[in-house]
Amino acid sequence: MLIAQLTDLHVTARGARAFGEVDTNDALARAVAHVAALPRRPDLVVVTGDVVNGPQPGEYAMAAELLAGLGLPLLVIPGNHDDREELRTALRPLDPGLPDGPYLHRMMDTGPLRILALDTVVPGRPEGALDAPRLAWIADRLAEAPHERPLLVLMHHPPFVSGIGHMDRMNCAGADALAGLLRGRTVAGLLCGHVHRPIAAHWRGIPCFCGPATAHLVALDLEPESPARWTREPPAVALHLWDDAHGLRTHLSFIGDFPPARFPW
Ligand SMILES: [Fe+2]
Repeated sequence: MLIAQLTDLHVTARGARAFGEVDTNDALARAVAHVAALPRRPDLVVVTGDVVNGPQPGEYAMAAELLAGLGLPLLVIPGNHDDREELRTALRPLDPGLPDGPYLHRMMDTGPLRILALDTVVPGRPEGALDAPRLAWIADRLAEAPHERPLLVLMHHPPFVSGIGHMDRMNCAGADALAGLLRGRTVAGLLCGHVHRPIAAHWRGIPCFCGPATAHLVALDLEPESPARWTREPPAVALHLWDDAHGLRTHLSFIGDFPPARFPW
């Protein structure tokens, strides 16, 4: 199966720019058109958080309008810029599996995978957390899940340390407890966002991938005291290919006009 990952969309109200600079809505429109035109149609599109930039009025309506262009099954988890209630209300028509309750987390089967979609949001805070109630929910869901079915974990905040200092100070508290719960399970991979860069990591025995943002990226400053800086590096969509025989393979598909040409042989 093929899963396309969009992350950190940071949609604004119509006509506005994120922090007055970045036309994130145009960037998402390009990303959506890119996914919709892929030669192989994804079975599922996952959005790993930060759907909007505010939250400000009009942002979620704009996000819903843009994401409707995918015409594909959609699974959304929230990021630190999101408002759970507004996200649920606006995006349920596109993602009917968005749950009721205090957290937007869920477990669902898709193709050969069992997706564990986590809500790491701490309202009003940039960092994320898996606290006792959420860890208990995960433990209960895992108890229901057959061991042989590979798990694909989704969460906005990375559980690993990226090396980009200012982002690592706002990753996910409680992640080690998640690793403990996943020990002994077949985990296909863990997909996240938040850092606004493509990052492959191996964390507690689990292959992890942080997707690049659809709009602005975070500068690649691999220093503990790196300043918070952003760049206009080319945005991309992550394409995760899975089959039981070969496992998870992740490709980056850069958003832009790059027509392929035949080799001369
Ligand atoms: Fe973000």
